Amino acid sequence: MDRGIAQRLDLADPLALSRSQFNVEESGPIYLDGNSLGRPAKVVIERLADAVRDWSENLVGGWSRWIDLPAAVGDRIGRLIGAGPGQVVVCDSTTVNLYKLAASALAARADRQVILADAHDFPTDRYVLQGLAESTGFELRLLEGSVVDGLDTDVVAGAIGAQTALVCLSHVNFRSGARLDVAAITEAAHRHGALVLWDLCHSAGAFPVALDDNGVDLAVGCTYKYLNGGPGSPAFAYVRRDLQAELRQPIWGWFGQHDQFSMAPIYQPDGGMSRFLTGTPPVLGLLGVDAAAEILESAGIRALWAKSERCTEMLVDLVRARAARCHLGQSIRSGTSRCTRVGGPRPGLAVVQRAHRSPSGGRRFPTTGRDQTGPGSALLALRGHLRRSRAHGRNPRSRCARCPRPARGHVRDALTHKLPTHGRRSHGSRLRRRMLTGLRIQDRE
Ligand SMILES: Cc1ncc(COP(=O)(O)O)c(C=O)c1O
Repeated sequence: MDRGIAQRLDLADPLALSRSQFNVEESGPIYLDGNSLGRPAKVVIERLADAVRDWSENLVGGWSRWIDLPAAVGDRIGRLIGAGPGQVVVCDSTTVNLYKLAASALAARADRQVILADAHDFPTDRYVLQGLAESTGFELRLLEGSVVDGLDTDVVAGAIGAQTALVCLSHVNFRSGARLDVAAITEAAHRHGALVLWDLCHSAGAFPVALDDNGVDLAVGCTYKYLNGGPGSPAFAYVRRDLQAELRQPIWGWFGQHDQFSMAPIYQPDGGMSRFLTGTPPVLGLLGVDAAAEILESAGIRALWAKSERCTEMLVDLVRARAARCHLGQSIRSGTSRCTRVGGPRPGLAVVQRAHRSPSGGRRFPTTGRDQTGPGSALLALRGHLRRSRAHGRNPRSRCARCPRPARGHVRDALTHKLPTHGRRSHGSRLRRRMLTGLRIQDRE
């Protein structure tokens, strides 16, 4: 693979023109970060400026145009995730929507006892379910599986039983990009009368999802990653039409109220999807999502996915060719079972990513060292380790002092969290500590 081949592929790319719709500085970084934020599209910037003008000129009069945005933008997102109109609203954060829908599902299956989830799911999903389990008395069972390959469909199906109230899973693993089988798992849950809630944060806008066709009950997802809605843009919630009247969500706000402006003394939820709204919608965020999702819609989610697969395979080939030099080529993963992501040899990016402190000294937010994620950061980490090993006179190809394995094997194990102990915890922990310390030193370089 050389630059000429890539340029020829670009020339033949039916989506090449879409690039000009985004704010991309040609001299800027190559942005491959799948965590937390897509790029801004030019139309989003214009739409937000128009909205601020509208607000300045029309003040509260703007609400006649804004009040139905949660449903209207929800319908647009619905078209990207295979949901017919009237089943998606855009509001709140993914965390809050997950809480609302999971709580509604548990209330609808109150005669059962068990919530099933993935032990390696995104923390907020696990925390929300832990909190719900504690407050409702349901038992939360976290299924163990491979982070790299995702939960096995048969393992999930085998864990579902007559006592299962809710199966709550991410469609795509946030670390490895491993994709679960929505159709098979949803079908298995329905066989036992359980409800299924899918977190689509890493699938919505990235590849085709077919909620209606797969009979999915509930889904949530964010709009700031592949949907490019902007920092903190509101999330979406999907409830299958025939379930809407049955489910009661726990946050009784005035936007969920039937005939909202009658200001009735008693809460009575709206008959349709609006019952899953809570308070005043975040108008600027909604307008950003609407404009950005329009671009994806016109490009066509299938065409985007086809290109994404081609780009991913190309990246994997390039990384494999380089990784082979340090004997890690086979651990670089991609393929149809994972999505828009390339998994490096070490699951998780938290240590490799730089931790930046805000100027005000507030929370740390991890970002990647060189505008890269996945293979980039994993390889940076590995390269850093090998460089440091050499600098300290430790040959990475040399034998381990405690066993016949090459030291390189331990480096790989440390990267994948499989630590050698040789009967003593300290050997593996020391190696790992040394690596992590090294990575932090590298971060400060
Ligand atoms: C899979 C998944 N679920 C949930 C969240 C949390 O979403 P929010 O912080 O918008 O509530 C994220 C955030 O990255 C995520 O990746």
